[in-house]
Amino acid sequence: MITEYPPPMHATTAPVPLGSTGPRLLPMGVGTVQWGDRTVWGYGQRYGVDDVRDAFWCSIAAGVTLVDTAEIYGWGRSERLIGRFLRTVRSPVFVATKFFPFPWRLSEGAFFQALEGSLRRLGRDQIDLYQIHWPTPLVPVERLMEWMALAVERGLIAHVGVSNFNVDQTRRAYAALSRRGIPLASNQVQFSLLARAPERTGLLELCRKLGVSVIAYSPLAQGLLSGKYSLVHRPAGVRSVTLLPSLVRLGPVIAELRRIGDAYGRTPGQIALRWTIEKGTIPIPGAKNGRQATENAAALAFALSDEDVAALDAAADRVVPDRLAPKRG
Ligand SMILES: NC(=O)c1ccc[n+]([C@@H]2O[C@H](COP(=O)([O-])OP(=O)(O)OC[C@H]3O[C@@H](n4cnc5c(N)ncnc54)[C@H](OP(=O)(O)O)[C@@H]3O)[C@@H](O)[C@H]2O)c1
Repeated sequence: MITEYPPPMHATTAPVPLGSTGPRLLPMGVGTVQWGDRTVWGYGQRYGVDDVRDAFWCSIAAGVTLVDTAEIYGWGRSERLIGRFLRTVRSPVFVATKFFPFPWRLSEGAFFQALEGSLRRLGRDQIDLYQIHWPTPLVPVERLMEWMALAVERGLIAHVGVSNFNVDQTRRAYAALSRRGIPLASNQVQFSLLARAPERTGLLELCRKLGVSVIAYSPLAQGLLSGKYSLVHRPAGVRSVTLLPSLVRLGPVIAELRRIGDAYGRTPGQIALRWTIEKGTIPIPGAKNGRQATENAAALAFALSDEDVAALDAAADRVVPDRLAPKRG
């Protein structure tokens, strides 16, 4: 049992409530798909358990107590690692995990079996935020929310979230839960300077109106917005191919992140993360080690001006023009 924490980092940002009735948290979490995933992220090759333990501890030390995982990350490895780390911490940690509606397990029984598996790996009696990882055409949103409501009523989960739900699916999830007197706490979607669909489809606006928190995943565009990658210095592994189209177009956004970062004495990645906070979302940057976690958390220690946000919007528009963006509705 660790009894002494590193000194807490100064966070100038006020905590925000999760959804309309959830706890107040600093508007940043730590993403953990990297904690155990070998295929995309190279866990066990270029970094390992000591690195991700540091990422956990540095996040907690900085006040970043929302830890986002999923049963499928490293096929349970991420949840198991978090379970181990949680046993060494005394202060409260808000754990969010996810149910993946695979086509071969679409029954209420399969849902509860998956939930029990997550509880066991995390070593918890209750999950703070349980999210449907992706919607599925094979089960109506209303039925998924029925299972979530049952899980709340049985005390297995404290708050209900969804992920990758569009405007219509979010409305339906919200309405289905409301009929049971349960709020929809959050919708986790891809959102960054290179992925602005939630702004353009009206999803951010809808969530703001309904009091549903938007949790922004891949807020650094899988590392691209840290500014360390280029066509010459490409990321290792699968990302060197999947991120290639973005790498080709990235230049103007990185230039703007650097220009604004220089004025604030911040890194491009910190400016990119702060932009998502200024948009009213809760980013969950993935961190592979303590250095990354600490650097990311420092985005809580300053604010961007409206002019800087507008300049970043404009730079992003030049890279992903409006005509390529999905239409509202
Ligand atoms: N709900 C969903 O469907 C869904 C989908 C994807 C992700 N997620 C969640 O969202 C989290 C974040 O998304 P993501 O991991 O895809 O992408 P991300 O947060 O945009 O990027 C994370 C990667 O960026 C690099 N990085 C992070 N901090 C850095 C720093 N300070 N300096 C330099 N490089 C840094 C690291 O990779 P390198 O060092 O290797 O570059 C890290 O693995 C995930 O961990 C997961 O919890 C959810």
